[in-house]
Amino acid sequence: MKFLIVLACIAAASAAPLSADQAGLVRGAWDKVKHSEVEILAAVFSAYPDIQARFPKFAGKELSSIKGSADFALHATRIVSFISEVLALAGNSATAPAIETLVTELANNHKNRGVTKDQFTEFRTALTSYVSGHAPWGDNVAAAWNQAFDNVYATIFAKL
Ligand code: HEM
Repeated sequence: MKFLIVLACIAAASAAPLSADQAGLVRGAWDKVKHSEVEILAAVFSAYPDIQARFPKFAGKELSSIKGSADFALHATRIVSFISEVLALAGNSATAPAIETLVTELANNHKNRGVTKDQFTEFRTALTSYVSGHAPWGDNVAAAWNQAFDNVYATIFAKL
């Protein structure tokens, strides 16, 4: 019985909308890195070359040779802008459906490209590592950040 209660608590904890305070903590960390678009994408590709290999424009190329290109900057900006857009809507129950719509669209686009759950998890690991190393980071920020990813990934993984 106790075990079932613990399981129920874990399930409940895995998809709880962010409070306004949590959203503020995540935005605070994100604001410190969001102008480093190119460095963020380079960190993801460097940690996980299988992600780079999914991009028709970047597959099979040396990271150092593509990192300075306009295509690289454009894609890095697309990813970072998407995250900024979602975070701007976080922490407010009135805008939760808008987040769901954006994230569902992202999941469907990426499913069509053959991106896997493991690769989304790799992306999360690399991004979290980058942000935690470049923004003031404490247990409260980490917990809010993880809650944000748990929520978004619950939607994405249900579609993949
Ligand atoms: C939360 C994680 C991710 C975010 C926020 C994100 C964001 C985006 C955005 C905004 C675009 C451009 C719009 C679109 O075409 O949908 C895009 C395109 C793309 N993404 Fe992602 N992505 C994520 C994870 C991944 C992962 C894990 C992979 C590969 C393993 C991947 C591969 C691609 C590819 C191949 C494109 C198309 C690039 C092109 O136009 O040539 N993405 N992504």
